[in-house]
Amino acid sequence: MDNKSVNVSYEELERQRQYCDAVSQILQSKYHNGKPKAFVHTYGCQGNVSDGERMKGMLESMGYAFTERVEEADLVLYNTCAVREHAEDRIYGNAGALKPLKKQKPDMIIALCGCMMQQPRVEKRIRESFSFIDIVFGTHVIYKLPEILFKALSKGKRVFMTEESEGNIAEGLPVHRDSSFKAWLPIMYGCNNFCSYCIVPYVRGRERSRDFDAVVEEARQLVKAGYKEITLLGQNVNSYNRTLSEEYRFPALLRTINAIEGDFIIRFMTSHPKDCTEELLKAMSECDKVAKHLHLPFQSGNNRVLKAMNRGYTKEKYISLIEKAYELMPELSVTSDVIVGFPGETYEEFLDTLDVMKRVEYTSLFTFIFSLRPGTAAEKLPDPISREEKGIWFKELTDLQQEIAARRTSQMQGRQYRVLVEEKSKTEGVLCGRTEGNIIIEFPGDETDIGNFVTVEVTEALTWILRGKKI
Ligand code: SAM
Ligand code: SF4
Ligand code: F3S
Repeated sequence: MDNKSVNVSYEELERQRQYCDAVSQILQSKYHNGKPKAFVHTYGCQGNVSDGERMKGMLESMGYAFTERVEEADLVLYNTCAVREHAEDRIYGNAGALKPLKKQKPDMIIALCGCMMQQPRVEKRIRESFSFIDIVFGTHVIYKLPEILFKALSKGKRVFMTEESEGNIAEGLPVHRDSSFKAWLPIMYGCNNFCSYCIVPYVRGRERSRDFDAVVEEARQLVKAGYKEITLLGQNVNSYNRTLSEEYRFPALLRTINAIEGDFIIRFMTSHPKDCTEELLKAMSECDKVAKHLHLPFQSGNNRVLKAMNRGYTKEKYISLIEKAYELMPELSVTSDVIVGFPGETYEEFLDTLDVMKRVEYTSLFTFIFSLRPGTAAEKLPDPISREEKGIWFKELTDLQQEIAARRTSQMQGRQYRVLVEEKSKTEGVLCGRTEGNIIIEFPGDETDIGNFVTVEVTEALTWILRGKKI
């Protein structure tokens, strides 16, 4: 699909701008003593966080201010995630907990949106059992938030909008960014991979890429506005503009953003091993602003399991990519996602996962026990291993990763790293930042450094974090 057919039309965006003005007027006549307050909470991945920032941008244009306290909110918006059962249970729990508040404040609007709402079974449950929820909308209509709110505010009826659409990239929406120096920059939406365990392709629709020039222009504006870290986002950034020629694909995008003048670093996620090419690794190694950190999820180290997961690569291909990456970037920090207890996985197959971990030496790992997602292909697979047994394997895996991480961080002792300072740590007078390799480092310092790069020497290496002193 070309960009013209994936982008929301100018006319539709204009229609939403008119709804935005209409909501503004309703709010002004309803709230005389200052702005109404919105409590927005996003669950799930960075892509969802980025959507949340766009929704906050729209809410701000409609006249909302933000609050961190749900009790004082006039609008509560939960942007939900469906990736694992636990994520959904938490959202049902948190949404349910709003019922007494809604009783006390009947005018308060409660809205649920995002991936979880894009599933018909969830929409049905909310319709039938959560009558105090006013608004439900899915991932395909985020840009219609003004229209949705207008309907809820003017008609006083519940609004459900979960239709799907393949053409829904809305360029030019306002963004309310949570940080003034770290920015999320989505480059593509959706996913075509249908890994057999994963709900994302069902709730996010088919893969579609943003226009190359629009992404580069947004990056340029971010740098101009003083942003120091830009993270390019997509479920599989390696297939960005995959139907177009090399000059518009991901490595070219990295090189083009790298050429923007300014002092900033570029990160990206997620890279899929199936589409990770040597050209990408070369671009990474040659671009001085691209952080030498590769998040390359492997999920399993066993070829039969990888096939059953529909991942599209083998353990050997994965290892050879990592070897190439280390050859080009000896300082590279590699992180990954891994699933324990995929249906039918045996203990011997699980040992192959541990083998990959030993060979790659990840600086950190996101570890998950398989969670059955209704509607995915893995739902139909026999799953004879008990949850308890999977828990034992999981512990073996996390213990191993702890050993590996401790060894990796201890190698950093005494060395100096450029660090983007992010926030104050819990300890008075101590700051917290991240190295290029995305490892947390704490050091004594003063708040004025927050949002800047500083050089820090590592004086103590703990397993997951470093301690140091500013040079
Ligand atoms: N697109 C990314 C990729 O392919 O690497 C992953 C995105 S997914 C939102 C993040 C991680 O959640 C996956 O890498 C996987 O490890 C984990 N995950 C997804 N579905 C899962 C499931 N049903 N059970 C357990 N973990 C799951
Ligand atoms: Fe899910 Fe696979 Fe797509 Fe990642 S690539 S979002 S794991 S289907
Ligand atoms: Fe969750 Fe949706 Fe992201 S399911 S992990 S919020 S794409």
